[in-house]
Amino acid sequence: MSKRSVYDAEPIPVSAKAVIDGLMESGDLFRYTASVDDPSQVTLLEKEFAEFMGVKYALAVNSASSAIYLSLLAVGVSPGDQVLIPAWTFAAVPSAVVNAGALPILVEVGADLRIDMADFKQKLNGKTKAVIISHMRGHTSDMDAIMALCDAADVPVIEDAAHSLGTLWNGKKVGTMGAAGCFSFQSYKMVNGGEGGMLLTNDPDILAKTVFMSGAYEHNWAKHAHPDVPFEKYQNLFPLFNLRMNNLSAAVIRPQIPLVDERVAKGLSNYEYVESKLNASGFIAVPKADHRERRAPDSLQFNLIGFSDEEAFDVMQISKQRGNMISIFGMQGDNARVFWNWKFIGNVPELPITRAMLKRACDIRLPIGLTREELDQTVDFILDCVSDAKRAVA
Ligand SMILES: Cc1ncc(COP(=O)(O)O)c(C=O)c1O
Repeated sequence: MSKRSVYDAEPIPVSAKAVIDGLMESGDLFRYTASVDDPSQVTLLEKEFAEFMGVKYALAVNSASSAIYLSLLAVGVSPGDQVLIPAWTFAAVPSAVVNAGALPILVEVGADLRIDMADFKQKLNGKTKAVIISHMRGHTSDMDAIMALCDAADVPVIEDAAHSLGTLWNGKKVGTMGAAGCFSFQSYKMVNGGEGGMLLTNDPDILAKTVFMSGAYEHNWAKHAHPDVPFEKYQNLFPLFNLRMNNLSAAVIRPQIPLVDERVAKGLSNYEYVESKLNASGFIAVPKADHRERRAPDSLQFNLIGFSDEEAFDVMQISKQRGNMISIFGMQGDNARVFWNWKFIGNVPELPITRAMLKRACDIRLPIGLTREELDQTVDFILDCVSDAKRAVA
């Protein structure tokens, strides 16, 4: 296996150092100390990220989870409301729904790692207050169909693009199609801020409400410098949850935004190289990209073909013994992306399509910095573990 660990995060550009040194000297870490004329690192990041994504407004927060939670409240989700979410996503998503006092309704996800549209159509009904679509690991569901159905039903869509910065759907940037788009800068993402999140929207009311709730107390909203946003209309009407980003995080994130396109190109070329080699094995199928999708991968998912539960479990065990576990979502005890582990939501429904997918879908990180040689080692490692698991049981 390669010397570089697949758990390595993206390094921080050295240009961040001078800004961080300045912040350390001044101690000016709070986003709202700065003036409108000399904006804080957080305000500059919001401006740059909104421009990069081609969206009117951006609000920096401390995580994608916070961005999702604030989006739910801003589109009017109240206690007891139903919110559709994919049954394959990170536990943070049902958690955000629970945090809003609402009820997550889980929609099946198929072996192609996309939302099962028949189940989606059946579950989208008069009781649905909002829909969250997780572009999970960058696998994009049919956003044309989802947006058309939700627009017709007048149901807001919140895009969870936590793990898919740089992914395109039909030429549109993922996270820019719904009422709000939420991104993560936690370390294992395309942009590494340690922790951090961003909420994007073109809706001035959503921005105003989320700015207040994120912690812009009193008149700190003025520092967002958006004269077209009706902040005064919402003054004192929303609670303050204090989910702000601080200037140090923004200073680490800012110099990485101009690198996103380059990182996406590298990640995609790595992915396609590994994909073609893995698909040559009869034991493995990498879910095909939809022709409308351009992925931005920093991890790889593939399905085991013709494996029993025992053989699939052995893939995990063998790879773990050899130093780099190939995780199978539904075989790894308390995996946070597995719906039957979300006991906190109450009655966990049975979802046979998603369950079958999770029992055979493998997950391995593919950091974009890997060299060709390291990619070859990764491929050999996967193929050896998979074929040895088959042999071990036979
Ligand atoms: C699909 C998905 N949604 C939401 C999140 C939550 O992101 P954060 O850690 O920034 O709250 C993650 C984090 O990995 C994720 O993968």
